[in-house]
Amino acid sequence: MPTRLYAYCMTTAAPAFLSGLTQLPTLTTLRLRLRWLTPADVPALFTIFSDPAVMRYWSREQFTSLAEATELQTQIESLFRERSLFQWGITHLTDDEVIGTATLYGLHAAHRHAGVGYALGSAHWGQGYASEALAALVRFAFTELNLHRLEADADPRNVASRRCLEKQGFREEGLQRERYFLYNEWQDAQLFGLLRSDYDAQQLR
Ligand SMILES: CC(C)(COP(=O)(O)OP(=O)(O)OC[C@H]1O[C@@H](n2cnc3c(N)ncnc32)[C@H](O)[C@@H]1OP(=O)(O)O)[C@@H](O)C(=O)NCCC(=O)NCCS
Repeated sequence: MPTRLYAYCMTTAAPAFLSGLTQLPTLTTLRLRLRWLTPADVPALFTIFSDPAVMRYWSREQFTSLAEATELQTQIESLFRERSLFQWGITHLTDDEVIGTATLYGLHAAHRHAGVGYALGSAHWGQGYASEALAALVRFAFTELNLHRLEADADPRNVASRRCLEKQGFREEGLQRERYFLYNEWQDAQLFGLLRSDYDAQQLR
């Protein structure tokens, strides 16, 4: 789920964001690099998004063919050109293999808000990587894009994702009951929000 990515892709484009750039800037953290995805990353995207554990609480069911990963990579490029979706590949600093993605979706220039999403291949869970990538995403969204608000939703059962959001200061804002129909069941969506003012206050602590 943004987490619940694709449902939001068609919102108002934001042409002012990073105008002139032909690809996303690379973001670097202590252990990770968030970089532009290319067609060479399609097999890695397939590995991530065909993993049932990764896709258990995502906004669509797991990929079953490489073609779906190809379509995702193409969509990432075209939605970047519209400035409505920024999706980075996450790699270790020590190599260039994509182990996950970090996303700003539904970018809206007038309201200055976006959703955040992240997914890591399950082989890389539990080492603080998602928190590290999300911190970089949040910092970029507020300080470089000058957004006012970030939002996310997570299945209430997705404890790891909820914890990632809480660690960055996101606050719970409500529950949408039976928001998604996936794997033959209705799934609830817990809503989270983080304001620029919340972020600024955290930096002063
Ligand atoms: C959610 C996800 C990105 C977390 O990645 P991660 O790198 O393992 O997360 P982190 O290591 O940064 O852990 C974040 C926090 O969650 C906690 N956590 C991680 N897995 C947990 C679990 N299974 N149960 C409870 N807490 C868990 C960690 O302990 C950490 O909290 P702490 O610092 O207070 O100890 C990863 O599980 C994933 O890709 N899931 C599938 C995709 C997905 O659901 N994305 C989000 C959609 S809403």
